[in-house]
Amino acid sequence: MFIGIPKETAPNECRVAAVPDTVAKMVKAGLNVAVEAEAGLASYIHDEEYAKAGANIVADVEKIFGESDVILKVQKPYLNDKVKKHEADMMKQGAVLITFLQPMTNLDVVLKLADTKITAFSMDAIPRISRAQMMDALSSMSTVAGYKSVLLAVNSLKRFVPMLSTAAGTVHPAKAVIIGAGVAGLQAIATAKRLGAVVTAFDTRPAVGEQIRSLGAEFVPLDVPHDQAEDAGGYAKELSSDFYKQEQEIIRKHSKDADIIITTALVPGKPAPTLITEEMVKEMKPGSVIVDLVVEQGGNCALSELGKEVVKNNVTIIGAVNLPSMLPVHASKLYANNILTFLNHLLAPDKQSINLNLSDEIIKGSLITHNGEIMHQGVKEGAKKGDTAYPNGPTTRSHW
Ligand code: NAI
Repeated sequence: MFIGIPKETAPNECRVAAVPDTVAKMVKAGLNVAVEAEAGLASYIHDEEYAKAGANIVADVEKIFGESDVILKVQKPYLNDKVKKHEADMMKQGAVLITFLQPMTNLDVVLKLADTKITAFSMDAIPRISRAQMMDALSSMSTVAGYKSVLLAVNSLKRFVPMLSTAAGTVHPAKAVIIGAGVAGLQAIATAKRLGAVVTAFDTRPAVGEQIRSLGAEFVPLDVPHDQAEDAGGYAKELSSDFYKQEQEIIRKHSKDADIIITTALVPGKPAPTLITEEMVKEMKPGSVIVDLVVEQGGNCALSELGKEVVKNNVTIIGAVNLPSMLPVHASKLYANNILTFLNHLLAPDKQSINLNLSDEIIKGSLITHNGEIMHQGVKEGAKKGDTAYPNGPTTRSHW
């Protein structure tokens, strides 16, 4: 069976879907691995390292796409500028594609993959169940993003973060406020604590209070009863607009004093609630920084702009996109491990074909197209409605 690892062509994408270690494991399992020349360069992985791990290095991108039984990628298929062909069109009929498809926001690509009879799996649709933990690329990428968001904020801050007692005077620690303490938020809390900030965190799910406190941060409960706060899968539920207004008032008491605010609050499939209004930004300290991780879903801050760093009333607001690509060395390593675990889950015992076991929750949940059809129920309904703005479904958490 031939596995192809192309170089990513999406703008500003530095990750790659396989690293030498995962290539070596695939080769050891009897798979033929072809890596496009320079595919790992933006993650500082040289072709020789892939070759040493047993991969064939192939310069011709059409060959990689055209001859592989399985293509492992990071981003959705794009038009390849070098050969002026769409990546989906270069794949052979019946081949398998595993990538972050974000199918609900990329219905055009989904339809193309169905048309070209590609069996496409979306890494961002893998259900967050314990059995799938090692394949959960959303979580590993959120870990990277949570960490990097604090570093971005600190870099824009014009003051120290830790407390310093020096002969020239005492510096008080910076105050960081983290809104939403899921995977990204918890990593942001841990990173801000390590840098010496005093950290306060908010989440609508009371269950995360213990995790927040165990990281040394203060948890501000929002008084949402457990059954209203989260669904059976442990995800946050959408709350009323009145609730979000009350939440703004609670956050306001802390945002006035904050040096750093990281926002990650989101209910899957819903627009991000506005938790920091323009008025609240006006009341913030000059020089403070907001990093809005959910800017692609509308943003938790009313003033954040997609992919931009703006300064409003002396407050820097960073509408950060694709943070995992800013840390490609480890983002690639983690993603490559996630995708390899998923590939192993899909492979038949003889490693020569894919076992499309639709009674398996992980396979069924992540299969988007097969044999000319859209297989995923949520995506099928989205395609019928033609509605791609904040659709319900498991795929809208991912934005990298
Ligand atoms: P998650 O689902 O683990 O965490 C979201 C948290 O927000 C949950 O704990 C939830 O209870 C909380 N929440 C929901 N509504 C809230 C409210 N009104 N107030 C306070 N907390 C609330 O998701 P994860 O993996 O941590 O990702 C968070 C966001 O970051 C997602 O939107 C994801 O798309 C985005 N992200 C952005 C990246 C970027 O480069 N910009 C990269 C990675 C993730």
